[in-house]
Amino acid sequence: MPMNELELTDEVLRRLDETPDPRLREVMQALVRHLHAFAREVRLTDEEWMTGIRYLTATGHKCDEVRQEFILLSDTLGLSSLVDLINHASDNPVATEPTIMGPFYVPDSPWREMGASIVEFDDGGEPTVVTGVVRDTEGAPIADAVLDVWHNAANGFYAVQQPEEQPATNLRGRFRTGDDGHYSFHTVRPVPYPIPNDGPVGRLLRDTGRHEWRAAHLHMKVTADGFTPLNTHIFDRESDYLESDTVFGVKGSLIADFTPGPDGVLVCETDIVLARSGV
Ligand code: BEZ
Ligand code: FE
Repeated sequence: MPMNELELTDEVLRRLDETPDPRLREVMQALVRHLHAFAREVRLTDEEWMTGIRYLTATGHKCDEVRQEFILLSDTLGLSSLVDLINHASDNPVATEPTIMGPFYVPDSPWREMGASIVEFDDGGEPTVVTGVVRDTEGAPIADAVLDVWHNAANGFYAVQQPEEQPATNLRGRFRTGDDGHYSFHTVRPVPYPIPNDGPVGRLLRDTGRHEWRAAHLHMKVTADGFTPLNTHIFDRESDYLESDTVFGVKGSLIADFTPGPDGVLVCETDIVLARSGV
C-alpha cells in the first residue's frame, strides 16, 4: 500500500505493468511518471488541480466539427511542432523541411491548370505568383508531383473560417507538375493572422502574456510516387512574427522572398525538394 509521494507513483506504474500492448504500457507509464513529477515539482494545490480539470473540460466543449481546441492547445504549447520534428525531420539536409499542418486544411481542393489563379474572391490582396520546381534531392525535376495549396485571404481568414463571405474553394487548389517539374500559380500575398482566440487557448495565451499571431505563410502538401509526402509552409521574409510565431512553426529554410516582378505582381520563387521514400 503506497504511503508517500514516490511510493504512490511506483504503485501506479506497477499497476500498468501488465498492460498487454507493450507500446501502450510504455506510453502510459512514461505519462504517469512525468505527470506525477510535474505535480510534485510545482507542489500542485487542490485549487490548481481543479482549475486544470475545468480548463481541459472547457477545451473539450469548444471542439466541434470544424474547431479542434485540443490541437490548438497542442500547437501553442509547441507539442505539435515537437511531434512533427520527432517524426518528420528528414535525414537529408537538402530536402525541403516539413512543418505543422494546422486546422484549416480542407481535402479535395479543385484541380487547377498549372499557372492558374486560386483567387475566387477579391479582397484587395497583393497579386502574387508563387513558382518553382519540384525536385528530388539530386536536383532532377519530379513529374506528376501533386501540390495541394491553401492560405488565408488579405482579411486574415481562410475560406473555411468564413463560409458566408468567401467561396469555399477560395485560395485553395491542387496542381500537377509536368515533365519539367515546374509549378506556378497566381494568388494574393498571405498575411499574418491570429489563431482562433475566442476559447480556452486564447485565454491561456493572454494569461501568459503571449500573442496569438502566426507569421504570414502559405501551406503546401506535396506528394509524388516514390517520395516521402511533404507538409510544409512558405513564409514571407517581410512578415512580422517570424521570430515569435505562436505555434512554433517557422523554420529558417522555409522563409522566402516576395519580390516585385516586371508587371508589379510579386514573385515568390521556391523550389520544393522531396526525399525518396524508404531511403
Ligand atoms: C495554420 O497555419 O493554419 C494554423 C496552425 C496552427 C494553429 C492555427 C492555424
Ligand atoms: Fe496557416
